[in-house]
Amino acid sequence: MSPGAGPCVIAVAARKGGVGKTTVACGLASVLAAAGRRVLVVDLDPQSNAAYVLGVDPTLAGTAAWLTGATPEFQVAADNLMVLAGGPELVDRTVQRLDPHDLHAVATETAADVIVCDCPPGDEHLERLAIRAAQVALIVTDAHPLAVKGAGRVIEDLEADRRKGHRTPARTALVLSKVDTRRSMDRGLDAHLQETWGTLPRLTVRQDVDVAQATAAGVPIMRSAPNSRGAQDLQAIVRWINGEA
Ligand SMILES: Nc1ncnc2c1ncn2[C@@H]1O[C@H](COP(=O)(O)OP(=O)(O)OP(=O)(O)O)[C@@H](O)[C@H]1O
Ligand SMILES: [Mg+2]
Repeated sequence: MSPGAGPCVIAVAARKGGVGKTTVACGLASVLAAAGRRVLVVDLDPQSNAAYVLGVDPTLAGTAAWLTGATPEFQVAADNLMVLAGGPELVDRTVQRLDPHDLHAVATETAADVIVCDCPPGDEHLERLAIRAAQVALIVTDAHPLAVKGAGRVIEDLEADRRKGHRTPARTALVLSKVDTRRSMDRGLDAHLQETWGTLPRLTVRQDVDVAQATAAGVPIMRSAPNSRGAQDLQAIVRWINGEA
């Protein structure tokens, strides 16, 4: 991330639901904010889960207003950590008809060092808005074969975008999420991903009860459990994003 070059946009995506996108997005945002970066979380989920997880009001005007030129509420979740809530307006026609590069256009005008986009499951249009704006794409999967298939769809779309000359993220990595090596499926995940997409870096967030509790309580991880395993894994991902690992 280079200071002064406009916000670094990070898209956290996975076509599959429930794999840990919001946990990774909010966790990274908390780590970056605790390190002194000015962070904006853009919740792209109609369910507004990122807003819940970061303990702000999920019902206030947020991402949809920001994208359509209305007046959003930039809510403060912690020092340096702002949130635009998701909400059902994200599936309204006005948002669904936006050009895929519109989030990029608004992001460049925004006073933040880092913008973390939490993509929803399934909605390719909302995911594309984030991916086309991103310098960094993190594709999250757990060990379930359907999650790996979902990650594959995101990767295929990225490759198609690249072939067609669209704006694509400079760096892409897979995030292996909720990893518990006591489970045989989880033990085989890293090797499987290496075999399938060997050129993509692989980063890991282990299964961690502190992470689950922080998300349920609506408290950013660096405030609730800064020394937890999950926080350490998220800090390692931030080092990769910063080009330090
Ligand atoms: N590393 C982890 N350790 C323990 N629990 C986790 C971890 N990551 C995610 N979880 C739990 O898994 C569940 C799903 O996580 P999360 O909401 O982040 O997934 P998601 O991909 O954003 O889901 P959705 O597709 O609904 O947006 C949550 O209950 C969360 O607390
Ligand atoms: Mg989510």
